Amino acid sequence: MSTPVKKVPIHLQSAQNRLLIKNGKVVNEDEIIEEDVYIEDGIIKQLGRNLIIPGGTRVIDARGKLVIPGGIDPHTHFEFEFMNTTTVDDFYQGTKAAVAGGTTMIIDFVFVKKGESLLDAYYSYRQKADEKVCCDYALHVIISYWSDRVFEEMSILCSEHGVNSFKAFMAYSFMLDDSELYSAFEACKKLGAVAMVHAENGSIIFKNTEKLLAKGITGPEGHELSRPEEVEAEAVNRACTIANQVNCPLYIVHVMSKSATVALVQARNRGVRVIGETLAAALGTDGSHCNHSCFQHSAGHVISPPLRPDPMTPQYLMNYLAQNDLQLTGSDNCTFSTRQKEVGLNDFSKIPNGVNGVEDRMSVIWEKGVHSGIIDPCRFVAITSSTAAKIFNLYPRKGCIATGSDADIVIWNPNKTRTISAKTHHQAVDFNIFEVLDYQQKYAIMKTHLIGNGMPRCSRVCYS
Ligand code: URP
Ligand code: ZN
Ligand code: ZN
Ligand code: ZN
Repeated sequence: MSTPVKKVPIHLQSAQNRLLIKNGKVVNEDEIIEEDVYIEDGIIKQLGRNLIIPGGTRVIDARGKLVIPGGIDPHTHFEFEFMNTTTVDDFYQGTKAAVAGGTTMIIDFVFVKKGESLLDAYYSYRQKADEKVCCDYALHVIISYWSDRVFEEMSILCSEHGVNSFKAFMAYSFMLDDSELYSAFEACKKLGAVAMVHAENGSIIFKNTEKLLAKGITGPEGHELSRPEEVEAEAVNRACTIANQVNCPLYIVHVMSKSATVALVQARNRGVRVIGETLAAALGTDGSHCNHSCFQHSAGHVISPPLRPDPMTPQYLMNYLAQNDLQLTGSDNCTFSTRQKEVGLNDFSKIPNGVNGVEDRMSVIWEKGVHSGIIDPCRFVAITSSTAAKIFNLYPRKGCIATGSDADIVIWNPNKTRTISAKTHHQAVDFNIFEVLDYQQKYAIMKTHLIGNGMPRCSRVCYS
């Protein structure tokens, strides 16, 4: 059981902790039903019309709205020390933004330095996060090296701390080689934990980067050139092959390209049990922004694996989600300010990798998936909440609206629009990759659906 560490259901509490959500349409991953939801002390107690409930209960009228399970974002990095700096969104600001966007639970990653104790790193993350989070959260733990002690600590984390997922990297200085991956996946299999992997070929990226910089290609456009689609696809294939040797189900984080998804589907077709997560970033924007003449703009879009130059990529990925070739979405929220990104002004490989998404993931996926007619509201619930709940052992407490489930509920207005802007978002970061869709117009034009009563509209001129 992945243990949600803290619950602060202030958004749903009345003085008596009793709440009735009336007249809405309840959407679960498998059906849409017109029914009211009665909640006591943060737990769903009754569902149906004409419920008999205690007097004095607070009532919310959800007529014309959808009542959906709160989003679960399985991939965030708050207060993450990475590439010689620390992400600007901390556990307070990041989770506050999550809730504002309709996400009621996040799962972050405990970064473990090479040689460091996994348990010490876990305790230090708990200390950072417990006091600050505004929503439920859980933690995956990163495996950045291999030893017998790592296995012992993984085992303790599973049995005593409710951790049930571990992530390995195939890129960056803390990547595992194939034999270490084999051991890590084997350990996950033994413990019944989910093995997660960042799939990119780190050795190829290193060589390509050296070559590009030597040629004088130093700007953000070099980022994707150093790690093109096939470098992602090769690693997906290799990770699947290794996991299959030890019969370990595998979760590929941030699948960013058509080539990587094709590799994943091919592996699945030959019997590998593999799940693919893609990102709001990859569905809501594309790699053309990394060629923008303004450094702040292009560096603001640097993430790994990169946003792809093929402008069809967002549509391919949404179609893959629709047909269950990919299974769920995260944000990989890992935000650095414009000033922090400037460290890579003369060397793209020094630009801290990461973008926003925790606040806008639900809206972007609704807009690009449901509003555009590619997926229905049930599939929306599956890819933003239910599937994550099932994989990380939170279901049916979370990820569905059912009697006995946590009242992690979002009232979603499918007719409301808002304009995304760094000026009005709740995140600490000063840039928002979803702000400028048509950057030739140099101002925000994106309108997306949102929960609740809406936010002020505004637009922001691009930096250049
Ligand atoms: O660019 C990214 N994705 N930054 C966060 C670290 C990771 O690889 O998930
Ligand atoms: Zn990653
Ligand atoms: Zn990540
Ligand atoms: Zn610009």
